Amino acid sequence: MTVETQARNAKLAAIVPVPEDREFSFSADDYAFLRAMLKQRTGIELGPTKQNMVYARLAKRLRKLGFKSFRQYIEFIGSEEGRDELGTTLNALTTNLTKFFRENHHFEHLGSTALQEIRARATTQGRRLRIWSAGCSSGEEPYSIAITLLRAMPDIKQWDAKILATDIDTEMVRRGAEGVYSAAALDGIPPDIAKKYFELYGADKIRLCDEARGLISFKYLNLIGDWPMKGPFDAIFCRNVVIYFDKDTQRTLFDRYANLLVPGGFLYIGHSENLFGITERFKLLGRNIHRKIA
Ligand SMILES: C[S@@+](CC[C@H](N)C(=O)[O-])C[C@H]1O[C@@H](n2cnc3c(N)ncnc32)[C@H](O)[C@@H]1O
Repeated sequence: MTVETQARNAKLAAIVPVPEDREFSFSADDYAFLRAMLKQRTGIELGPTKQNMVYARLAKRLRKLGFKSFRQYIEFIGSEEGRDELGTTLNALTTNLTKFFRENHHFEHLGSTALQEIRARATTQGRRLRIWSAGCSSGEEPYSIAITLLRAMPDIKQWDAKILATDIDTEMVRRGAEGVYSAAALDGIPPDIAKKYFELYGADKIRLCDEARGLISFKYLNLIGDWPMKGPFDAIFCRNVVIYFDKDTQRTLFDRYANLLVPGGFLYIGHSENLFGITERFKLLGRNIHRKIA
């Protein structure tokens, strides 16, 4: 370890008070290692003050596997034997907060303006419709897209319509594909939509209807890795994902999105994200909705 790293870690330890009576020892160096590993593998940058959060998220793994310290756990995930556990570590460190119809104005725009344009294009280019939910978490976003399409397109069966939903967190991809949620997930959804597109599942759960589930393919995909799909997409939703990426990673990502969108295609990003100083290939239409212009 260099002197600079040691000095930085000492500074960090001063910023993040470490409770004395912790079950597992977790040094500033251990945290620095996990931060660097997460950034390198996922693009996600954790701030210097997130050490306690990381402790809380990983402590149950250490307990389950019988480790006494983070040092031991880090050595394990770096070994051949610990390769599967590394996936679990990454899953635990992603932030998956989401909900149905989050930032609803994006779904309103999709159901009206965007679909109108896509339909107009379809008369010349066949009835093909492709939407990508990139960083889909547990599926609420792509299902909100699916419901929007079903509501706005009574003739959807005559279309080749598909939604791709991807995430780096394998547990989220599994949950999305299952499409089962607690009944509380319906809070705030208008009753007519809840009734039409959700069904009771067991005693206290709900599940998306077959039509909505049939529109979506859920897949594991690392946004900073290789992408197998060729597109083109009519719209991409990448919301509340890049807030954790540095500017260079964002630059590369939005360039790749522009390459995969049809001319004039739509890009929806999260409320606290923006493309200023990142790319000039999109025009802002308002409320974090962008159109590809180049
Ligand atoms: C806060 S959630 C946002 C979910 C949804 N888009 C929304 O706005 O409600 C961010 C998601 O991005 C995913 N993510 C983070 N880094 C990623 C990467 N490099 N590749 C793919 N997904 C990633 C996380 O696993 C997480 O599920």
